[in-house]
Amino acid sequence: MTGHLLSIADLGRDGVAEILRLSESADLGRPLAGKGVALVFQKPSARTRNSMEMAVVQLGGHPVYIQGHEVGLGARETAEDVARTLACFHSVLAARVMDHGDLEKMAAVSPRPILNMLSDRDHPLQALADLLTVKQLLGRVEGARIAYVGDGDNNVARSLAEAASFAGAELVIASPEGYRLGQAPEGVRQVEDPVEAVEGADVVYTDVWVSMGQEAERGRRLADLARYRVDEGLMAAAPDAHFLHCLPAHRGEEVTDAVMESPRSAVWRQAENRMHTARGALAWLMGVRA
Ligand code: CP
Ligand code: NVA
Repeated sequence: MTGHLLSIADLGRDGVAEILRLSESADLGRPLAGKGVALVFQKPSARTRNSMEMAVVQLGGHPVYIQGHEVGLGARETAEDVARTLACFHSVLAARVMDHGDLEKMAAVSPRPILNMLSDRDHPLQALADLLTVKQLLGRVEGARIAYVGDGDNNVARSLAEAASFAGAELVIASPEGYRLGQAPEGVRQVEDPVEAVEGADVVYTDVWVSMGQEAERGRRLADLARYRVDEGLMAAAPDAHFLHCLPAHRGEEVTDAVMESPRSAVWRQAENRMHTARGALAWLMGVRA
């Protein structure tokens, strides 16, 4: 059966650990030599597109960037037919979609692995880079204390929660009611108070309050989440913590300039790690094991 990576849950504990090992490996060979990887984007991207294109090149393959409207997932033809078509030419089909259901439809029929490059539900490639960054900063992921502050019910929070749980990190998510995961994985705690979440944390993490596709809810979201801005006052409650953000950051909303620019911010290292973990994930989908 073809292995797909739609969410961190698809990987399990062993899969997460294996991809992190592969991501740290200096030489994974050229498992994509002479092969194509389709990169379909229904939403904008800076980090994901560039890290994926470079990871494909590093593994010997050829990335093909495809704007969502060109293939028209579910509009020009069905998501299933797009997957069957792209599988004629490519060894991995990666997609960033508005609706997670489209990835599931593609995975149901595709003879080639489907890789989620962000959906409304999950952002697994981000969570893998987040864990690698925590490992580099602290020397370990197991037992690391991560505080996530803000919209606790978005794609980044969900994938981070699943990844942290598999890796044995302690994750505390601070968010208001209505912005929490329906069911938190083992080892993940959800609280109301941002200060309670960050006390004793090794890492403080946040993401935007208005994710791509939620623009119509902007006014309500900014009002509901105003108390969850990561500023110098909140960081003072976590004196030993590094700061992470998946980016793009909306400075002045979920995070201040001062925190982004502070020496505690590791966001550029985190961004660079997107390429290393993209390489690890692609190699894993091609059957490479460390
Ligand atoms: N973090 C992330 O996925 O960034 P992009 O939206 O720029 O790809
Ligand atoms: N939650 C954000 C992540 C961007 C990388 C969004 O979906 O827009």
